[in-house]
Amino acid sequence: NWTMDDFIDMQIEKIRETVGDKKVLLGLSGGVDSSVVGVLLHKAIGDQLTSIFVDHGLLRKNEAQEVMDSLVGKFGLNIVEVDASKRFLGKLDGVSDPEKKRKIIGNEFIQVFNDEAKKLDGIEFLAQGTLYTDVIESGTDTAQTIKSHHNVGGLPEDMPFKLIEPLRTLFKDEVREVGTKLGMPDNLVWRQPFPGPGLAIRVIGAVTPDKLKLVRDSDAILRDEIKKAGLDREIWQYFTVLPGIKSVGVMGDGRTYDYTIGIRAVNSIDGMTADFARIPWDVLQNISVRIVNEVPHVNRVIYDITSKPPATIEWE
Ligand code: XMP
Repeated sequence: NWTMDDFIDMQIEKIRETVGDKKVLLGLSGGVDSSVVGVLLHKAIGDQLTSIFVDHGLLRKNEAQEVMDSLVGKFGLNIVEVDASKRFLGKLDGVSDPEKKRKIIGNEFIQVFNDEAKKLDGIEFLAQGTLYTDVIESGTDTAQTIKSHHNVGGLPEDMPFKLIEPLRTLFKDEVREVGTKLGMPDNLVWRQPFPGPGLAIRVIGAVTPDKLKLVRDSDAILRDEIKKAGLDREIWQYFTVLPGIKSVGVMGDGRTYDYTIGIRAVNSIDGMTADFARIPWDVLQNISVRIVNEVPHVNRVIYDITSKPPATIEWE
């Protein structure tokens, strides 16, 4: 019956023993799990760890910057940041089928990661943020293939790395506890779930830089207002989507014909089922007014009041 302090000490010792004077590679996604693995490994083996952070250009507003500021600036991790947004957007050009978008992003991600990994010499280990739930799930043949869930940072196939998975015995809440114990800030530790394909599956249909900006900017406003209302730890996941439809509106004394932004906010335990969050009307009002005022080419905001099932959490 160990405490989290014991866990950290034990893992650090174990990592040092396993790794010796060899080098370790880590794929950082900006999510809780890989970030905690990064900080833990850095504490254990310092600069023997190299991390690769692939920015696919589909992250939320300021997300890449926040991750880098914290992990490099505060914790001193050695991170290779790859700005691959042009490459991803190029491949996604004109593609509107959700599963095709996912496949393209998943494949591209592995390629970019491999290309970078090949530039590094003498890596012997690959670290991964595998959790206990991943261990259980991969052992069962769940019928949940409604959407293919590419987990960012999949194992490069042609590279014979040995795996290091220090979080294998932990549940999500324990990972957060470890993160906090390691001194990590709340915005990393309490990050809401974010899909590997990122904002690409929140722009319905073909992704363009303009449409990405609409989702990104409206999402930043939503998150800001949810935080101001003190609901950021209450609601499990919340984001905006761009359904891609235009409708008629009126602004000043002119008629507009512009985009609709959808708000999605749900409560859930594991994402398998979900209930739409009951955000207070006043908060919704603030969000709506700010999105329409601050995001050009949006003249309407709607709230998704469907639970899962029958709807999924993401719109694609
Ligand atoms: P759905 O939309 O299937 O989402 O109800 C359930 C949870 O999974 C996330 N999600 C994904 N995560 N790659 C991911 O890594 C994906 O392709 C993907 N699709 C959905 C979603 O954000 C929610 O938390």
